[in-house]
Amino acid sequence: MPYSANENRYEKMIYNRVGKSGLKLPAVSLGMWQNFGDRAVFDDVRTMMLAAFDLGITHYDIANNYGPTPGSAEETFGRVFEKDLKPYRDEIIVSSKAGYYMWPGPYGEWGSKKNLIASCDQSLKRTGLEYFDIFYHHRPDPETPLEETMDALAQLVRQGKALYVGISNYNAADTEKAYAILKDMGVRLLIHQASYNMFNRRNEEVFAACDRLGIGAALFSPLAQGLLTDKYLNGIPADSRAAGPSVFLHRENITPDKVEKARRLNEIASSRGQSLAQMALSWDLRHACAATVLLGVSRLSQILDSVKAIDNLAFTQDELDAIDGILSMTF
Ligand SMILES: NC(=O)c1ccc[n+]([C@@H]2O[C@H](COP(=O)([O-])OP(=O)(O)OC[C@H]3O[C@@H](n4cnc5c(N)ncnc54)[C@H](OP(=O)(O)O)[C@@H]3O)[C@@H](O)[C@H]2O)c1
Repeated sequence: MPYSANENRYEKMIYNRVGKSGLKLPAVSLGMWQNFGDRAVFDDVRTMMLAAFDLGITHYDIANNYGPTPGSAEETFGRVFEKDLKPYRDEIIVSSKAGYYMWPGPYGEWGSKKNLIASCDQSLKRTGLEYFDIFYHHRPDPETPLEETMDALAQLVRQGKALYVGISNYNAADTEKAYAILKDMGVRLLIHQASYNMFNRRNEEVFAACDRLGIGAALFSPLAQGLLTDKYLNGIPADSRAAGPSVFLHRENITPDKVEKARRLNEIASSRGQSLAQMALSWDLRHACAATVLLGVSRLSQILDSVKAIDNLAFTQDELDAIDGILSMTF
C-alpha cells in the first residue's frame, strides 16, 4: 500500500523552538540507535517510522554507527525514505552524527576533519538524502584541536550537506568554546545532544551553558534505556533490552535500588494520570533549553504510550519535590 500521511498529524504535537534559532523540533522525536538496523524486521521498523510521522513526530535521529550492525539504521532510514517519506522531505528533520568508531585506521572515528567529512558523505549515501538537517559531532575528541572539528562542521554547512550543526556529549566548558569558534566562522551552534533522565542528571551544568548561549538541547536516553518505565518492576522481561544482546544495558544494571525508585516514581506518575515513561519524558522537557526528547523504542505500542507525555507537561512544586525526594534515597 502506498503511504499517505495522516492529514491530522499536526493537530496535537507540540513544536519547540531550538534555542535562539528559527528551527522547531517536535517535543518528542524518534531515535534510531538500537532497534532500527538490519537485525530488526523491516516491516516493523517501517510501521514505527510512519506511525511516528502520523503523530506529528517530524524528527528522526540517526548516526553513522546506529544499527546494529553499524550503518544499517541509516540504510533502513534510506529504504523507508525512498519508499514512503520522499514526498514529505520538507516536512521532516533528519539528523546524523560522526565521531564514534566506524571504519578501521586512523580516520574512522573521533574528530578530525578527515573523519567528519568522509563520514557525512558515507551517511548521505546510505540514507539517500541530499543533505542532513542537523549534523552532529558525536563525542568530544581530546586529541584533535576543537578548531579543526568545528571547521569541519562549518564546511558541511557551507557545502550544503548540513543545514544546522550540533555537538553531543560535550561538557559545559567545551560547549562554550565550540559555540565561540563556530560563531567566529559565521555558523550558529544549534543544538547539544545530551544524556538526561531522572537517574542521570550530570548534564544540568551543560543546560545552564545552553541557556546562556541560546543553544537548544535534544535529550537522549530519557527513560534510562527502559529503567524509567514500569517494565522492570516485576523482573526482567525476556523481550527487554536488559535481557537481550545490547552491550549498553545489562541485567546487572537493573538493581534493587533502581527498581524501588521506579516503583515509587510510578506511583507519582499514576497520581498525575501518566505512565512512568510519560512522566519521565515530561520531567525532561521541563528544562528551558529542552527542545525535544529522543524516544528509543522497540515496538509501536511504546511510541503510542510515550507520545502522550505531551498531554501533561506541567509539574507542581510538590510533585518535583517528591520526585527529588525519591531520587535522593538509597534502597
Ligand atoms: N548522542 C548520543 O551519544 C546518544 C547515545 C544514546 C542514544 N542517543 C539517541 O537517543 C535515542 C534514545 O536512546 P535510548 O534508546 O537509550 O532511549 P530510552 O528512551 O531511554 O530507552 C528506550 C527503551 O526504553 C523502553 N521503552 C521506550 N518507551 C517505552 C514505554 N512507553 N514503555 C515501556 N518501555 C519503553 C524500550 O526498551 P525495550 O527495548 O526493553 O523494549 C526502549 O528500547 C537513541 O535512539 C538515539 O537517537 C544518542
